[in-house]
Amino acid sequence: MKGVILAGGTGSRLYPCTKVTNKHLLPVYNKPMIYYPLQLLAKAGIKDILIISGEGHAGDFLNLLGSGKEFGVDLAYDVQEGSGGIAHALKLARNFVRDDKVVVVLGDNIFEDDVKPFVEEFEKQQEGAKIFLKEVSMQDARRFGCALTEGDKVVYVEEKPRDPKSNLAMTGLYMFDNNIFNIIDVLKPSARGELEITDAIDYYVKSGKCFYGIIKGFWSDAGTFESLFHSSQFLKEKEGIKDQPYFA
Ligand code: DAU
Repeated sequence: MKGVILAGGTGSRLYPCTKVTNKHLLPVYNKPMIYYPLQLLAKAGIKDILIISGEGHAGDFLNLLGSGKEFGVDLAYDVQEGSGGIAHALKLARNFVRDDKVVVVLGDNIFEDDVKPFVEEFEKQQEGAKIFLKEVSMQDARRFGCALTEGDKVVYVEEKPRDPKSNLAMTGLYMFDNNIFNIIDVLKPSARGELEITDAIDYYVKSGKCFYGIIKGFWSDAGTFESLFHSSQFLKEKEGIKDQPYFA
């Protein structure tokens, strides 16, 4: 099983910070954002990981993370030209993944859960996709991709619905069989001009091959100032470092 971290895009919601650096290099509490998806994959036993960043700051990822030895993994790097969407970025991973399955994490997603059991389950899954859902408020559901489930399958997905059919948000953790790359090949850009990962997932849903897991612990993306702050606050409390003086 290969791992891919998607760290492209423009980070426009974190402007002006992202005028001079990549969103995924900004700190979330006491670590650069990219550390969290990287540690998630490393902890789940994924050893071969490709990091796809955008143009402009790609060298900074290499300076920060190097070969991956510090994290116990082997890192490879690629660059997405432009910001054509999550599926557009993932397409670059085709030669890296070859005939394997792939675990994909969005570079701005922070998970508390250990996802190793999910990875082990997916290793046994013959084909298809597995996506990871988190209960959110109906109000928040509009910010994310949303899913409807029946039994152990996902039966409907929609990206940022105006009127969500459920309060199950699609987190930025996805597991795919090798067919994902053939699906991306036939995707059409959405109204906002992007190749949407939700449209790729819809192919699996329509063929009855999309399964799901539920994220129980804390989950957030850190892609807005509010969610970045919220994530930092959660991590600080979790790590229990509460009483450090400001100017130690
Ligand atoms: O965080 C979970 C949500 O992430 C899901 O619920 C949505 O279904 C999914 O579409 C995505 O929505 P966002 O609006 O949050 O996506 P955003 O454009 O912020 O991109 C998320 C990450 O994906 C970003 O941190 C890096 C990567 N990305 C994004 C784009 C648009 C790329 O690598 N290349 C891209 O072109």
